[in-house]
Amino acid sequence: MKNILITGGAGYIGSHTAVQLIEAGYNPIIIDDLSNSEEKVLDRLEEITGRKLTFYKGDCSDKSLLEKIASEHEISGVIHFAAFKAVGESTVQPLKYYQNNIGSLLAILDFMKANRIKDLVFSSSCTVYGQPEVLPVTEETPRQDAESPYGNTKKICEDILMDFVKSQAGIRVISLRYFNPVGAHPSGKIGELPIGTPANLVPFVTQTAAGIREKLTVFGDDYDTVDGSCVRDFIHVMDLADAHVKALAYLGEQQVDFYDVFNVGTGNGNTVLEVIRTFEKVNRVKVNFEIGARRPGDIVKIWADTAKINSVFNWHPSYSLEDSLRDSWNWQKTL
Ligand code: UD1
Repeated sequence: MKNILITGGAGYIGSHTAVQLIEAGYNPIIIDDLSNSEEKVLDRLEEITGRKLTFYKGDCSDKSLLEKIASEHEISGVIHFAAFKAVGESTVQPLKYYQNNIGSLLAILDFMKANRIKDLVFSSSCTVYGQPEVLPVTEETPRQDAESPYGNTKKICEDILMDFVKSQAGIRVISLRYFNPVGAHPSGKIGELPIGTPANLVPFVTQTAAGIREKLTVFGDDYDTVDGSCVRDFIHVMDLADAHVKALAYLGEQQVDFYDVFNVGTGNGNTVLEVIRTFEKVNRVKVNFEIGARRPGDIVKIWADTAKINSVFNWHPSYSLEDSLRDSWNWQKTL
């Protein structure tokens, strides 16, 4: 069984990917410093998969910890999720973001080179496209200057990966550009664990429906969209997790020194107001909301062209927006 090192494997997307990897016959080895996750996620993963998981608590840029892991397991690939992701915080503490998000990637690449580990899947984001002129966005859509230091770290990391592969480092890399991950494992045992007030839409919706937040503010209803609110491509986290499994399999078929990028979205755009209404309908709960001011720096509309990932990986989303919002609510009830 192939051992796959998952940095940030106790986090939202990492934990769901661990489940999908086990399902596909891989052995995930998780490293996570639990700075934005909890150790009980590991117990939940064991409940879901019926398997004992290998977990190392620590920072994935800790070289001695990485070497210890390599001495205990033969690692055949890495999925690098671990990163800070709060857009607002990154504008206030940019160095923290550059240090952590870029430093950890560099440490992982050094580690891979030293240990002749060939395959890497990297968590990138549709944030690299900024506000595209033409929709939907394909992988050929030009990247734009990042709106935030967080976004810039994703762009810089993509560039580092491209340069590293070009240098004939002997590795194969795929950057997955995630659109908006939502939903949770259908069991309700794992999901997104926002610390403090959620910045993202769906956790705010579920917390408002649960009465934890008094009111959701819709950031603007006067944009040039069908109902005036912003448009995003909301992808179920299980489908997103599955894209990582497909990416690893595809890397295995390539020559070394391979780099490519793939959009991971559903291919559909939904507005913020559609998300709220769909959430209310599928879960039969009310969401108290009001229309507020636009959020500075918001992208008006973006959704993915998924032709590339559909045809190259034979990956297709199997969950609808309704499924995603049902699973998000199910998870909120667990919490
Ligand atoms: C944001 C980041 C993106 C990052 C992603 C990580 C920005 C501009 N973009 O994406 O770079 O990769 O998070 O998860 O910050 N909304 C409300 N009310 C709320 C919360 C959100 O109306 O309380 C709206 C937003 O205005 C937006 C939509 O919901 O139109 C989605 O917002 P969010 O979940 O924060 O995601 P993104 O902005 O797409």
